[in-house]
Amino acid sequence: MDKKQWYKDMVFYQIWPRSFKDGNGDGMGDLLGVYEKLDYIKSLGCDGIWFSPLYPSPGVDCGYDISDYMDIAEEFGGMEAFKKVLDGAHERNMKVIMDLVVNHTSTEHEWFKKSRERIEPYTDYYIWRPAKPNGKLPNNWDSLFEGKAWAWDEVRQEYYMHLFAVQQADLNMDNPLVREEVKKILRYWLDMGVDGFREDVVTFISKPEGLPDDRIMPASKGINMYNHGPHLHEYLEEFNNDVFSKYDCMTLAEAPMVSPKVALKYIDETNNPVLDMMIQFSTQEADCFFSDFRHMPFSLRKYKKALSKWQNGLEGKGWNMLYIENHDHPRIVSRYGSEKFRVESAKMLAVAYLFLKGTPFVYQGQEIGMTNWYPSDPSLYEDVQTRWQYENVATNKPPQKRLERLWYGSRDSARTPVQWDDSNNAGFTTGTPWFFVNDNYKEINVASQQNDDNSVLNFYRKAIKLRKELSCVRNGNYVEYNKNSSKLYIYSREYKNQKVLVVCSFSGKNEHWKVPNGFDLNNSELILGNYSNSELNVLKPYETRVYLWK
Ligand code: GLC
Ligand code: CA
Repeated sequence: MDKKQWYKDMVFYQIWPRSFKDGNGDGMGDLLGVYEKLDYIKSLGCDGIWFSPLYPSPGVDCGYDISDYMDIAEEFGGMEAFKKVLDGAHERNMKVIMDLVVNHTSTEHEWFKKSRERIEPYTDYYIWRPAKPNGKLPNNWDSLFEGKAWAWDEVRQEYYMHLFAVQQADLNMDNPLVREEVKKILRYWLDMGVDGFREDVVTFISKPEGLPDDRIMPASKGINMYNHGPHLHEYLEEFNNDVFSKYDCMTLAEAPMVSPKVALKYIDETNNPVLDMMIQFSTQEADCFFSDFRHMPFSLRKYKKALSKWQNGLEGKGWNMLYIENHDHPRIVSRYGSEKFRVESAKMLAVAYLFLKGTPFVYQGQEIGMTNWYPSDPSLYEDVQTRWQYENVATNKPPQKRLERLWYGSRDSARTPVQWDDSNNAGFTTGTPWFFVNDNYKEINVASQQNDDNSVLNFYRKAIKLRKELSCVRNGNYVEYNKNSSKLYIYSREYKNQKVLVVCSFSGKNEHWKVPNGFDLNNSELILGNYSNSELNVLKPYETRVYLWK
């Protein structure tokens, strides 16, 4: 099938279902709630939804531990509710993509239960290894969430590999039967009308033969052994040839530690791509090292370097996926922006990425400038990774420091319920919310921003509308100016006779700036900005401007 590239004109909205909107009052976000909000999502200018996992799951990793790939969890409303949402989205010309989590399954999955009993054909569905005579683990790899990457199974009397939580057992993708299962899952959802997949840590699915010890990387042992493993391209090609190529769908692969050069092995449109886009992590690492828990002061230079590397690195060959937030990172205003200048910086951060080349994703709550959650007690955290970090890392630090590590590093910082209005529980639920609502909901919520022209929400609407109207944002080249500035990010996009200049200040003070050579603002129009009283040569705190020539 000739692949259409509809995703290139779109903006996606990411729903993390537990915290989006509760429709039945049981305290848990669900598809009834999503259905109520489809028009809201559409009103942002978003034309697609990426759902974080909706499948039945014990919930150890909030749905990323799947126990049945062919169903929708009861707590989210079951299959009937999903079909209603899918139809409702399609009626509104919106696409729907699902999360495909096949590096691992829940240990509650039927396959795992049978595999541990050595019931055929499931015996080799997972990565099992016997105990070593010297009592050592099968290899020295770490889990990314908790401890070592191996857990002992009493039933089978062997170790199984888990790169994430203990209850997330890694599948043995080298087994052709497992790959057939994956294809079955893909066809099932595509045949139902789903428009594509976001593929969870899919670059981890091919482990090197013999599972050798990692002797290089101390930060998280193993990742450079199994990331982009030996058969990754082959397996992705198989999924593409046997399934994706037969449907009008898109694929987006989550890819930690990837460079544009490596990404192009998979997404180069000029050379048999096996995927459409990749989720890189480098733009999330401007205030941390490898993991959000290794927090550092924000460096604009680092951020700009990452953005430009991807804009330039894929130019003419591959398509960027653009994002500033998702369910795995704390809120961007609290990281790269400023809570003091919350409204200004939320708008500026939106402009900084929405005018780049690629397909933008907006994570629930980002569009109203939601901030991090700062609980006073570490026991309130829910996330499996956060809990392990608290118990096991930096344990010699004073209690306040340990708590702050979680504030700035935990994924829970961005997983509090969406703040819909200023009523009880921020209008998220009429019941008792499954998780804590951020205390600032009376000040920050959708209802109060709906009819305010100057709100973050309406700014997102304007910015998304503009990016869709301007062919230079879709197609133009990218040039960065003032590269060495640690305060300003300035770039232009140009296509045919149309050109925009995007100016973003990441500073909490007034900053002088000079219009780059070759731009004459006299002939331009200021089409977007976050101050009404701006002065030409001075940028106010977190000011942003977009100038247009046509
Ligand atoms: C991905 C998901 C994350 C999940 C992990 C394990 O990184 O985005 O939320 O915990 O994979 O599935
Ligand atoms: Ca519910």
